[in-house]
Amino acid sequence: MNRNKRVFLWIVGLVMVALLFFCFQNNAIGITEHEIALKRLPVSFDGYKILQISDLHNKWFGVSQKRLMAKIDKIEFDIIVITGDIGDARRYDDEPIHSLIEQLVPLAPVYYVTGNHESDIDGYDALEAYMTSQGVRVLRNEYEILKKDGAEIIIAGIDDPTMHTGTGFESALLKLSLNETYFKILLSHRPEKMALYSTLNYDLVFSGHAHGGQIRMPFIGGVIAPHQGFFPKYFEGVHVEGETYMVISRGLGNSLFPLRVFNRPELVVVTLNSTD
Ligand SMILES: [Fe+2]
Repeated sequence: MNRNKRVFLWIVGLVMVALLFFCFQNNAIGITEHEIALKRLPVSFDGYKILQISDLHNKWFGVSQKRLMAKIDKIEFDIIVITGDIGDARRYDDEPIHSLIEQLVPLAPVYYVTGNHESDIDGYDALEAYMTSQGVRVLRNEYEILKKDGAEIIIAGIDDPTMHTGTGFESALLKLSLNETYFKILLSHRPEKMALYSTLNYDLVFSGHAHGGQIRMPFIGGVIAPHQGFFPKYFEGVHVEGETYMVISRGLGNSLFPLRVFNRPELVVVTLNSTD
């Protein structure tokens, strides 16, 4: 074999390895589990499990979302929360969303809030009507009471600020925070608003939006996130400020930046622990 052929084979081999690597990084779903000890959580909710799904961006994970559902089927949970950007406004397709929702609804109660992409989706009203028709609780600046063994906590959901609903993001957050005696879970797409959630004394917030910083580097963390720019503070994991915990999902899909590196799609499972 002459030198040119050897070089060509090396290049083909390297390209194939790179393609396999990037395919794995963008499609192999991981499950991240967190246990959080929460001072104000009623004892009845000790061990309560919440599955968080975020930022699907109408991505397919196999035919009929088979690979995603295979992962979810391995997890135990009491409720499912979906923290926005379920569709992608740049290339909206409702079929991956419908396929997922139809399979989630029989498993547990599903709560959903909008992300910034929902505000740009043509036909968002149809999406919301579909969600509601399937039994998904769409929380648009409102809350529900969760009950367990005689105890009650609040699950509230806030519209993404880009939805421009009602009196605005901060006023709506303030209004939802006023039931001071209740332990309060908040679903909000935006992690960068953590200072506000903490000021308003939400107990536990679920957010997404940051896509894990797209590229995760050792010692550096996430490289870029929307509304935070380069080297974002809030890109994954559990954060605590004051009395408020916030869980950030790295999400499942991509949007403008089409690649994840060392940042696989993620399902998050949170177990609530009472400190009493
Ligand atoms: Fe987003």
